[in-house]
Amino acid sequence: MVKIFGAKPLTENEVRNLERIAGDSNIMLRRRVFYSHRDLDVYLDMYEKGFRCSLYTGRGPSGSTHLGHILPWIFTKWLQDRLGLELFFQMTDDEKFWHDERLDISESNRYAYENILDLAAIGLDHRKTHVIVDSEDIAFLYPIAVKVAKKITFSTQKATFGFTDSTNIGLIFYPVLQISTSFLPSELYKEETYVLIPAGIDQDPYWRIARDIATSLGYPKPSQIHNKLLPGLGPEGKMSSSKPETAIYTTDPPEVGAQKIMRAFTGGQPTVELQKKLGGNPDRCSVYKMYEMLFEDDDTKLLDRYWKCKTGALICGDCKADLASRVRRFLVDFQKRREAARDNIELYLLRTKFEPPKHNMRKPL
Ligand code: TYM
Repeated sequence: MVKIFGAKPLTENEVRNLERIAGDSNIMLRRRVFYSHRDLDVYLDMYEKGFRCSLYTGRGPSGSTHLGHILPWIFTKWLQDRLGLELFFQMTDDEKFWHDERLDISESNRYAYENILDLAAIGLDHRKTHVIVDSEDIAFLYPIAVKVAKKITFSTQKATFGFTDSTNIGLIFYPVLQISTSFLPSELYKEETYVLIPAGIDQDPYWRIARDIATSLGYPKPSQIHNKLLPGLGPEGKMSSSKPETAIYTTDPPEVGAQKIMRAFTGGQPTVELQKKLGGNPDRCSVYKMYEMLFEDDDTKLLDRYWKCKTGALICGDCKADLASRVRRFLVDFQKRREAARDNIELYLLRTKFEPPKHNMRKPL
């Protein structure tokens, strides 16, 4: 990404600057779980100069939320708390309906609301978190989308997203909506608003187009900070809803979550004897990555685990059992908070707090 598309690796100085402004250190920054960006420096500069700034991220609600999805949201909460920022959160039930043959729009819409419970369980503040549900809130986006759509050609769409002649035209239009949401704060606040998007690197293609067209539409270019993708619990690939047995969902019964960990692929040797003799490979281990990216806050303990694994002092069974009990505890607590939020979903909805933008749609008579 860095070489081909010009995203920048996050440098030590940039991490320090963000932590200085936040007044706090963050493991996802220190460990470069968030590892690259576009114009984070510009965004922080504008923030410090007192310009209006906000956050934007989102979810394609095709099912339950897994631990990979919540990773950028946990970091987003940290930014929201530390920098006092408002967050715009897009639930793209339309995208997932167009994307998945078997999914009905009523189902993806229902998941949009289910997934809001995960935002609440993470602790995102409803007074500062505004969720837009595409299929119901299009009036917020359409005044922007008409202008955005006019700037994007089919050939750009094909080159960026790999669309073909047999792609349904819902999917072909969809990027317009994800891009338009990055301009929504400027419309809602009726002033130039700088937007930072914390999200997985897989979402970057949208922002390349958004940044290309922003200035010509009179909006600041949205900035991004990209996270690496949490691996699934199998031998390869990211944690993904397309491989449910290798993903841990926030709705998994805690015991099921723990069992998934116990069955996970590791970087260990085939036998305990070999492990003790040759050591394991934490760099290629889905269990170690779970510690590194989510479940071990203490840097010293993480490093200790790394070397104990490498030198064969730690065997996979013990390492997994420790993680399984952390995951079990995490799921118990998370699910309590999730259920407690069920009556508060409305508080998160953008439509209960803002009026759709109407600018430029009709000239005064
Ligand atoms: P979706 O639902 O695929 O993913 C939601 C967020 O989770 C990130 N993500 C992961 N992060 C770490 N490890 C993983 N294994 C992993 N899998 C997914 C994604 O990068 C994303 O940040 N089109 C979007 C919905 C969307 C959106 C946005 C996302 C609309 N506007 C703005 C981010 C920012 C989607 O389907 O996300």
